[in-house]
Amino acid sequence: MTLSKHWQTLYINVNLATMTDGANSYGEIINGALAISAGKIVWLGKQSDLPDSLSDSLSDKDGDSLKVDSVDIIDGKGQWLTPGLIDCHTHLVYGGNRANEFEMRLQGKSYQEIANAGGGIVSTVSATRKASEQELLASALPRLTALHQQGVTTVEIKSGYGLDTANEIKMLKVAGLLADELPVTIKRTFLGAHALPTEYKDNAEGYLDIVCDEMLPQVVSENLADAVDVFCEGIGFSLEQTKRVFDAAQFHNLPIKVHAEQLSNLGASELAANYNALSSDHIEFLDEAGIKAMKKSGMTAVLLPGAFYFLRETQLPPIELLRKHQVPMAVATDANPGTSPIHNIHLMLNMACTLFRLTPSEALAGITCYGAKALGLSESKGQLAVGYDADLALWNVSQPAELCYQFGVNPLTALVKDGKQVI
Ligand code: NIG
Ligand code: FE
Repeated sequence: MTLSKHWQTLYINVNLATMTDGANSYGEIINGALAISAGKIVWLGKQSDLPDSLSDSLSDKDGDSLKVDSVDIIDGKGQWLTPGLIDCHTHLVYGGNRANEFEMRLQGKSYQEIANAGGGIVSTVSATRKASEQELLASALPRLTALHQQGVTTVEIKSGYGLDTANEIKMLKVAGLLADELPVTIKRTFLGAHALPTEYKDNAEGYLDIVCDEMLPQVVSENLADAVDVFCEGIGFSLEQTKRVFDAAQFHNLPIKVHAEQLSNLGASELAANYNALSSDHIEFLDEAGIKAMKKSGMTAVLLPGAFYFLRETQLPPIELLRKHQVPMAVATDANPGTSPIHNIHLMLNMACTLFRLTPSEALAGITCYGAKALGLSESKGQLAVGYDADLALWNVSQPAELCYQFGVNPLTALVKDGKQVI
């Protein structure tokens, strides 16, 4: 047993949802305890298995916190401790908003019709290009703050509303600056191939030359991205065009993610599997061949119930087949101004269950261990396990399923990032 004298903080009287068993269970430890040192989890288990010296001191304790042998002891009072939550797919840096398009859709126009008429992503591109770094930072901060206050400790943020070199770089820099504002790990994804900017509307290949030969090398040389994403869709990029960007990403040794099979099935998930991509996201129209390819290459399926709901889609992602082939399912907000202006991870837990019929343990795995996997972080985040980052959320709930069942009252009572209590 690790010597307790090296521990800095010890949580006692907590029930642990370790999320070390994938979606099969919460990996519960009832009446547990968890110790932290130097920002990492160094011990966890049943409280009754704590070293004897500590157990003796704890039995005479009173009050919520005390120090034993220089260890800070925190009494969780029977609450549930989970890994800090992970939102593995967002576009939360952007200018303006699209409330006008929301109104248009309520008058009967579809997302595709609005995009084809010059609205959609490119209207956010105009607003994003006009905004300064400071303005983008100021508008993104409340969105990230909302997620942070809900227990999120890791967020992925994509570019894709700049669509020229300077503005894509600007977005990625702003995403990086957010990490100085809040104790949240930010992973950045370069999504230059999100849409065709109007100045290239008849020259997709010319635009992709810029994406692959100018933007990506600069993003790499300034170390601004952890992954590369493409929107492969009728209103986005074709399979052939997507392949060009994947080749460029592979050349630069950047992992791949893809917006795939959202509105139709173009086979982008299967293509991404050939590149050992991290994840395929949306996937309402994914078929079994794509699922098998994803399984074979170890990809994660990222479900985005907010976009499904907001676009009033009817084609459900193939959950049963994903289960059958044991493809890990992550869940994320897809926070963006067009298809998911929703900055609420708790709502995603609820929607993953109500709309997609995930079990609560699958949904919670989707924003913990499998959210981490979709970002290539499964060795360090998303689980309560020895050696993992001490990113923890403490919840005033009677059981983990309550996190998915109830929505609107925030049960978060403490948040720990890299071993330090930040809420
Ligand atoms: O994830 N599908 C493409 N990209 C975003 C939507 C972007 C937008 O409409 O602004 C998504 O849904
Ligand atoms: Fe998205």
